[in-house]
Order: sequence, then C-alpha cells, then structure tokens
Amino acid sequence: MVSFRTLLPTFVLLAFAECKINWGGCNQLQALQFNSSTIPVPFQCGTLDVPLDYSSQNSSEKLTLELLKAPAPLESKGSILVNTGGPGLPNRQDFSTLARNLIPLTGGQYDLIAFDSRGTVNTAPLTCYEDPIQEIKSFLGQKPSNKSDVAVGELWTRGTVDAEACFEAGSKNGSVMTTAFVARDLVSVVDALEEDGLLRYWGFSYGTILGATVAAMFPERIDKIIFDAVQNVHEYYHAQANFEEWELSDTLFSAIFSECVKAGPELCALAAHNETAEELEAAAYELLEISKYQPFPVGQLVVDYAAVKSTYAQSLYTQRAWPLTTALVDVLFYGTESSIEEVLSGLPHINITGLTLPGLAATDIALAGIYCSDNQVRTESFDEFVPAIDKLYSLSQIMGDLGVSSYMRCQQWKIKPKETYRGSLEHVQIKNPPLFIGNTLDGHTPLKSAYNVSASFEGSVVLEIDGYGHGSTAVPSECSLKAISAYWVNGTLPEPGTRCARDVEPYTNDWWPEVFKAAGVNETWIHKG
Ligand SMILES: *[C@@H]1O[C@H](CO)[C@@H](O)[C@H](O)[C@H]1NC(C)=O
Ligand SMILES: *[C@@H]1O[C@H](CO)[C@@H](O)[C@H](O)[C@H]1NC(C)=O
Ligand SMILES: *[C@@H]1O[C@H](CO)[C@@H](O)[C@H](O)[C@H]1NC(C)=O
Ligand SMILES: *[C@@H]1O[C@H](CO)[C@@H](O)[C@H](O)[C@H]1NC(C)=O
Ligand SMILES: *[C@@H]1O[C@H](CO)[C@@H](O)[C@H](O)[C@H]1NC(C)=O
Ligand SMILES: *[C@@H]1O[C@H](CO)[C@@H](O)[C@H](O)[C@H]1NC(C)=O
Ligand SMILES: *[C@@H]1O[C@H](CO)[C@@H](O)[C@H](O)[C@H]1NC(C)=O
Ligand SMILES: *[C@@H]1O[C@H](CO)[C@@H](O)[C@H](O)[C@H]1NC(C)=O
Ligand SMILES: *[C@@H]1O[C@H](CO)[C@@H](O)[C@H](O)[C@H]1NC(C)=O
Repeated sequence: MVSFRTLLPTFVLLAFAECKINWGGCNQLQALQFNSSTIPVPFQCGTLDVPLDYSSQNSSEKLTLELLKAPAPLESKGSILVNTGGPGLPNRQDFSTLARNLIPLTGGQYDLIAFDSRGTVNTAPLTCYEDPIQEIKSFLGQKPSNKSDVAVGELWTRGTVDAEACFEAGSKNGSVMTTAFVARDLVSVVDALEEDGLLRYWGFSYGTILGATVAAMFPERIDKIIFDAVQNVHEYYHAQANFEEWELSDTLFSAIFSECVKAGPELCALAAHNETAEELEAAAYELLEISKYQPFPVGQLVVDYAAVKSTYAQSLYTQRAWPLTTALVDVLFYGTESSIEEVLSGLPHINITGLTLPGLAATDIALAGIYCSDNQVRTESFDEFVPAIDKLYSLSQIMGDLGVSSYMRCQQWKIKPKETYRGSLEHVQIKNPPLFIGNTLDGHTPLKSAYNVSASFEGSVVLEIDGYGHGSTAVPSECSLKAISAYWVNGTLPEPGTRCARDVEPYTNDWWPEVFKAAGVNETWIHKG
C-alpha cells in the first residue's frame, strides 16, 4: 500500500513553514479555564494558522490551532508536544492538569505544548444537528447497550440517524479531522517553533495512535516519542471495535476489592463488612443488576444502570477514583449511612459539576468525527455486527457494553475523509528509538498492546510500571520518573524487561508530590495537591 503522503505536492507543506507562533498570556476565558490548576510555571497561549485541508492543492482556507504551553522551568532544550488522549477530548484542558507532573518527568528541561485537535472544542468542530435539542438527544441516546433487552437494536438505529445527520450537516469539517491531518498539524507546529525541525512527542492512550501515525508518515521528522498507555493501532484502524483495549478491564475491577480488603476499614470503609474481596466484588455486580430494574434516588439524581456503570468504568482510570466506587457499593448495596455527596467532596480532582451536558455531547460527536473516519471497516447490517457485540461482552463485563453504541455508529459512518493514513505501520525507524510504557494492570489499554506496537518500531523498548490505572501518570513511581526523564534528557532507554515498582499504594493519600520530594526533584517545581 502507498501512503497518501506521496501524492501531496510539497508546497502545501512548506507554504506555512514561515508562520510563527506568538506566545502571550492566555485571554481571560482561557485563563479561567486553565488557571484552576496552576502549575509552578505560568501557562502561555498562542495560535497558529494551518491549512484546513492539506489534501487540496488550491485551497487557501485556514484553520486556527489553539495552543497551550507550559514553559520549561530550566533552560529549554526544545519543545515536547503532548496529546493526552481521546479522541474527541479537550486536549488543552486535560494537559493543563497533567502538566504539573509532566514538568518533573521531563527534567524541567523542555517546553511542553498541547493544542486542541481538529474536531474538538473550537477547532473545526463537527456539528450534526442545528437544533441543540437534537444534539443532546443524540448524546443521551448513547447508553450502555446491555441496559435492557431492547437497547442494542435502538442503538443501531441511533447510529443510522446520527451517521446520516452528520453527513448532511457536517461533511465540511467532518472530512478534515482524521488523525492523518492531526499528524500534519503536529509537523506544522514543529515548523513554526523553529527549533531543530524535529518533533518530540508524548502521546497518552489515543495519543499513541496519533504518535504511531505521525511516525509512520514522517519518520525523518521525529526526534523522540513516548507511547504511554498504548492502544493497538492496527485494531484501531482495521477492526470493527477496539477489542484488545478491554482485555484486562475486569481484572482491574477485581483489584479494587482485593486492595480494599488489603487496605482495611481504616482506609477503605467497605472492608468493614468483614467480607472477602470476592464477596464485595459480587455485591458490586449485583448492585449493577439491581440498578437496571430499580434505580436509586440520590439527591436530584436517578442513579441508574448507566450511572453505576460509568462510575465503575471511570474507576479503571486511576486508583484515586476507587473510593467513589467502593462508597457507591457501601451506600447503595449495604445501606451504610453516608452521603454520596460527602464522599464526592472528599475525593481529589473529581469535579462532576465541571462536566456540562453540551460539553459531553460535543466530546461524543468529536469522538465519532475522528474515530469513524480513521476506522476503515463498515458493517452493512445490525445482524452482521452481532458477533462483535458478543465478543465485546465476553471480553469484559465492565466495559463490554459501553462502547457498542459508538462502534455501531462508526460502522455506518458516511462522511468521506479527505485523507486517512493507509500506509504501513511496520518497521518504523526514527532518530531515537521510542519508549513504550504500560502499567501492569491498565483497564483501558493492556500491556500487551504496548508490546504489539513496540514490535513495529525498530530498537524500541517497553517499560512496565507495576501499578493500576491508565498511563504512567496514574502510578507515582520514582523508578519511572528516572526512566522517563532519562529518555527525554539523554535519549537513554531502560533495559528491555525493566519493571518499575509503584511508590504509592491504593487507598492512601500520597501522590506524585510525595514521590517527587523523595526523589529530590527541585522543590519549586512540585505542585501542592
Ligand atoms: C492565575 O492564578 C494566580 C493565583 O490565583 C493569579 O495570581 C494569576 O494572575 C492567574 N493568572 C491568570 C493568567 O489569570
Ligand atoms: C480546486 O481546483 C479544482 C480543479 O481546478 C476545482 O475543481 C476545485 O473546485 C478547486 N477547489 C477549490 C476548493 O477551490
Ligand atoms: C530550581 O528551579 C528553579 C526554576 O524553577 C531554578 O531557578 C533553580 O536554579 C533550580 N534549583 C536547582 C538546585 O536546580
Ligand atoms: C467548522 O469549522 C470552522 C473552523 O473552526 C468553524 O468556524 C465552523 O463553525 C465549523 N462548522 C460547523 C458547522 O460546526
Ligand atoms: C469485623 O471483624 C472485627 C474483628 O474480628 C469485629 O470487631 C467487627 O465487629 C466485625 N464487623 C462486622 C460488621 O461484623
Ligand atoms: C468545578 O468546575 C466548575 C466549572 O469548570 C467550576 O466553576 C467550579 O468552581 C469547580 N469546582 C471546584 C470545587 O473546583
Ligand atoms: C448483560 O446483562 C446480563 C443480564 O443482566 C448479564 O448476565 C451480563 O453479564 C451482562 N453483560 C455485560 C457485558 O454487561
Ligand atoms: C498486533 O495486533 C494486530 C491486531 O490485533 C495483529 O494482527 C498483529 O499480529 C499483532 N502483532 C504483533 C507483533 O503482536
Ligand atoms: C543525563 O546524563 C547525564 C550524564 O550521564 C547525567 O548526569 C544525568 O543525570 C542524566 N539526566 C537524566 C535526567 O537522567
């Protein structure tokens, strides 16, 4: 197969190379958004115009990328571009909370930069319904497929309607938001930075799909890459669903209860029932079943199957969210007196009021716009998709029914992307072999996928971190801090087979600041809290 890249005239790529990014303060709106998580260095904001459609030789239409920078506290050795995952999520916003940990992890010697990808936030968003009510309805229609016997058929039809509406109303923006275009944007940003002309890139989760794509398209433009919480890029582009992602979801869910029992009732109140980890886990699954037929009233909320399921799913990201899941089981199943609101307010960094319905609806449609035009499989009928549903259900009881609606919508997607990467993803060679990172138990991207993609990158090494959750930042570890900063600063890869120990146990209050302190990180870079 030939990459589309070879068909492009080079002038399109060079025409914008002279643009520069003017970095300045963030305007008030941006400051409000990004200052809720102050870091030891002040964020800067900037914009860069890039071609809206790189595949068009005669179009001068531009797209304005919005960038956010966390400058290096020490003398900068250059910039690292960061993608925190998705697709469809607000990259700048997520980066604004992640940056506090990324600064020490890069030795304080790199400027860190993130921009909102095409199709997200204000950057060429996909709009499928002019009527905001229809848009919200479409979002609310995305329920877990195992909610009832009839849900799954309804979801297929929801997908038919959404795919058609997006095609009718959103083809313009919707055809230029593939990962291949975002890869070109990364290179445009590198050109505009006027450093050494090379991309240093750290991708988390979906960000590893972008990393694999940009490296395959522009191997000669890459200096270093970290693939963190690696997704199987072959499945992402070529399978009906991301099956491999969910292989360890249920195993991680079990660990929530075994670690609770291990921590004891002082740290995990659910352990006070003197039940085994297996009994507590069975209670969690029973709660899920009950919530299908008789949801719970919690303040102004009806806590139904979808709400319980999504709380469980969220808890797979980080052990810091485990107390919410164990509290839910404690209060709703065992009837322990305590209020969910009280539990919520005690949890670090969980701000549910920050999530607005239109905001969530926008990330949902952005996910469709990007993933559905990247994915190259289409399924003719609902019946033909049923085996994929069976496979997802058999892989994971926690995650198996959460992606079905989104996968089914993609199988019926109609917008034709202007460019999708169809080239090889094998034998990729870049200047410094990349570092792959996987946690021992990651419920969204199993370690196996890190080994899978690493096999395509000459000389690369997989670093395993012995902990729970999604990505290296979910497991504070002095060992990974040393390995990651050594890679960025010196290009040094760990020995193959290196396994880093975690330094923070579940259900305790310590986090990265304690680990940074113990590792002798410059005090002024350590964020409090
Ligand atoms: C961010 O917050 C700090 C402390 O609250 C304040 O001093 C600073 O001016 C704010 N920065 C911006 C860009 O709003
Ligand atoms: C680009 O040029 C082609 C051929 O001349 C024309 O058909 C097309 O409409 C042009 N596209 C734009 C966006 O101007
Ligand atoms: C700690 O970082 C600050 C900048 O944030 C720098 O001025 C100072 O020299 C650093 N201290 C050491 C010991 O490196
Ligand atoms: C398409 O993207 C442009 C540029 O970001 C934006 O101004 C426009 O509103 C978007 N169109 C739709 C229909 O959302
Ligand atoms: C659990 O066991 C401890 C120690 O054996 C005992 O003190 C406590 O009362 C028990 N709690 C329950 C709820 O049975
Ligand atoms: C939660 O987020 C909302 C919206 O971003 C903000 O107004 C509110 O202050 C935040 N609450 C806390 C406790 O951070
Ligand atoms: C779907 O629901 C059935 C019946 O409630 C249950 O036995 C099964 O484990 C569920 N599977 C998934 C993947 O949710
Ligand atoms: C990687 O995953 C893909 C898709 O599941 C599979 O076809 C391929 O054989 C795997 N490669 C390796 C090296 O494991
Ligand atoms: C990079 O290498 C130098 C020289 O070997 C060493 O002193 C330094 O600690 C290394 N930096 C990191 C972050 O590992």
